[in-house]
Amino acid sequence: MQTVLVTGGTGYIGSHTSVELIESGYKVVIADNLSNSQIEVLDGIKEITGVRPDFEKFDLCEREKVFSLFKKYRIDAIIHFAALKAVGESVEKPLEYYYNNIVTLINLLQAMKKYNTSSFVFSSSCTVYGQPDQLPVNENAPVKKAMSPYGNTKQIAEEIIQDTIHVTPLMKAISLRYFNPIGAHKSAEIGELPLGIPQNLVPFVTQTVAGIRNKLSVFGNDYNTPDGTPIRDYIYVCDLAKAHVVAVKRMLNNENKQNFEVFNLGTGNGISVLEIIKTFENATGKKINYEIVGRREGDIEKVWADTSFANKELGWKSDTPLDETLKSAWEWEKRIRNIK
Ligand code: NAD
Ligand code: WQD
Repeated sequence: MQTVLVTGGTGYIGSHTSVELIESGYKVVIADNLSNSQIEVLDGIKEITGVRPDFEKFDLCEREKVFSLFKKYRIDAIIHFAALKAVGESVEKPLEYYYNNIVTLINLLQAMKKYNTSSFVFSSSCTVYGQPDQLPVNENAPVKKAMSPYGNTKQIAEEIIQDTIHVTPLMKAISLRYFNPIGAHKSAEIGELPLGIPQNLVPFVTQTVAGIRNKLSVFGNDYNTPDGTPIRDYIYVCDLAKAHVVAVKRMLNNENKQNFEVFNLGTGNGISVLEIIKTFENATGKKINYEIVGRREGDIEKVWADTSFANKELGWKSDTPLDETLKSAWEWEKRIRNIK
């Protein structure tokens, strides 16, 4: 059995990916300091898969602990999710973001080198494209100046990985640029657990319908889009998770074409905020209390993925319909709030 180290594996995307890895026959070791997730997530993973992944609680900024982990387990591949990810907070606390997101990465790459682990999957983001000049955006589009320290950590990380691989022939990496991951596992055993007031659209929607938030603010309807609200590419988190398993397999089976590869993970469909609201209401039968307010600083107008490279090279496609995805988000919210 091959072993995959999943950093940030009790987090939102990491937990869904751990499920897919276990279901595909991998042994999963999770390393997470629980700074943005809860230990009970492991129960959810066990409930779905029948397997409780090995769990190591520590801060991946601690180099010696990272090295000890590699001494303890024979790790075949790493999927590196662990990061701080709140865009607004990163503007307030740049040094925390640069330190956490870059030091964790460097420690892992150093440990990989020392312990001869070949394969690394990195959680990147469509944020590296900024507002693209052409839509849909493909992987060859230029990386634009980052709008936040968070976004900059993703750009810098991709460069650090490339530079390292360039001089380390035994190492290879795949950077996956996620568009907007949403939804929860269909069992409602795991899902997104934002701490405090959600910054992202879908958790804000589900919390509003659950009565935790009074009203959803729609940030602007004066954009150059068909209904005036911004457009994004919302991808079901389980579809996204499956792409990580494909990426790991690709490298472990030596099917990668280059030692550093980049793939967009999206659906290829651009959806507006008002379309999310309408689709959610139709899928769940619930009304969303919302009002149009001013634009949110730093928001881009529209972005959606050209997924043809990932579809062709990875043989992977996100095909879960949006209404099912939004329904899964609501089922999860109901589950954690005990709503019947
Ligand atoms: P998340 O916060 O739910 O999960 C990240 C996990 O990493 C958390 O469990 C947290 O406790 C852990 N962590 C953070 N710093 C750590 C450290 N120093 N040591 C150990 N553990 C640490 O976030 P997510 O939404 O699952 O995102 C996973 C990755 O995907 C992140 O790298 C994020 O930047 C990236 N990403 C997320 C989105 C999104 O919209 N959710 C979009 C694009 C990219
Ligand atoms: C989506 C749309 C908002 C909340 C962020 C990061 C990005 C990536 C994913 C990590 C936008 C609108 C939102 C609300 C609203 N993360 N909205 N009311 O901004 O596309 O991307 O998360 O890499 O880097 O920037 O996602 O979910 O915050 O917003 O109207 O209360 O919903 O204006 O158009 P975003 P989001």
